[in-house]
Amino acid sequence: MNDIEIINSGKVISRIVTGEWISDILPQLKGYRKVYVIYDKNVSALAGSISEMIEDHYPSVLGGMMGIDASEQKKNLDTVMGICSFLLDNNADRKSLVLGIGGGITTDMTGFAASIYKRGVKFAFVPTTLLAQVDAAIGGKTGVNFHQFKNMLGVIRQPEFTFICPEPLETLPQRDFVSGSAEMLKTFILDNGPQNDRYESACHLLEKIHSTPDGVIKYSTRLLPFIISAAAVKAGVVSRDQFENGERRILNLGHTFAHAIEHLSAEEETGQGIAHGEAVAMGIVLAAKLSAALGIANSHLPERLARDFKRVGLPCECPFPLEEMEKAMSVDKKAEGDKIHFILPQSIGHVVVKDLTAKEAIDLTSGGTVICII
Ligand code: GLY
Repeated sequence: MNDIEIINSGKVISRIVTGEWISDILPQLKGYRKVYVIYDKNVSALAGSISEMIEDHYPSVLGGMMGIDASEQKKNLDTVMGICSFLLDNNADRKSLVLGIGGGITTDMTGFAASIYKRGVKFAFVPTTLLAQVDAAIGGKTGVNFHQFKNMLGVIRQPEFTFICPEPLETLPQRDFVSGSAEMLKTFILDNGPQNDRYESACHLLEKIHSTPDGVIKYSTRLLPFIISAAAVKAGVVSRDQFENGERRILNLGHTFAHAIEHLSAEEETGQGIAHGEAVAMGIVLAAKLSAALGIANSHLPERLARDFKRVGLPCECPFPLEEMEKAMSVDKKAEGDKIHFILPQSIGHVVVKDLTAKEAIDLTSGGTVICII
């Protein structure tokens, strides 16, 4: 399969490489003095087999392995400093590659640590969740949470490559798989493909996967092209606007609401919290309600999205009163002054950007003409 390239000023700045099997990563690791593996402890078996393959094919290149706790609570500067200490203790240098293996939390922290260690060493990712394969591990956003706000510290710096392979998804817990579906569907709401059918086809497949035991294993061959399409859409957007001065903002569809939901859910500290993709699904439905309230979307759009998300197993009713979300939305990274760039779906495949204050958005969303009950 051909690589997907992220291009800036005519230069390839990052590549997305697809493999059928994990071992297909090996050619990508050639030529580095050392490879340092940073992995989520939940995928230690996979990290172990990649490390063994490195030892077998490139003797003495494995510089070390470090497992991390990849939770939102541990997505902080302490963990990043731990990774930097590990790199320093094991003599990582600019000819080395730091390889992050895990979901978005792991790839965000690995990329951030590699970006600040010795003012920047090379890094690459093996995303092991659907969410990271279609979104988090592509495009170079790296960072950590700060003062309970998501991804408040970080840099944009591109991985050498992101290696996408369906194998790790086969053992992914179902809730994590479903959570990742939200970012895939988000991408197809932004770009519905040349035949204008990618969103509906993806919903159909994700619904089948959700309702079939071992659905990911059974349908992985059919799933891979959708993962690749979503990754390609993101690569295109990032190529045109790496530093989010314009077009890249559309990738934040639903995210202003989602980050506020995640912030409130973290404050509650009860139960299992709300996963990022679940919050994104809720956020997209709220963005559609806002869009409908502004007369941009047809009034049926929020209901349709909520119905589709439910089909694939995503919760989409926001559990918090909207007024409570206003403060958390105001500290959104995407705010400029008191205005936030809201990405509003107009229809499947089309979005518009509208600058509103958090208060305006909340007032409009709660007073909107559409009530979305599912
Ligand atoms: N997850 C949104 C972006 O990478 O820009």
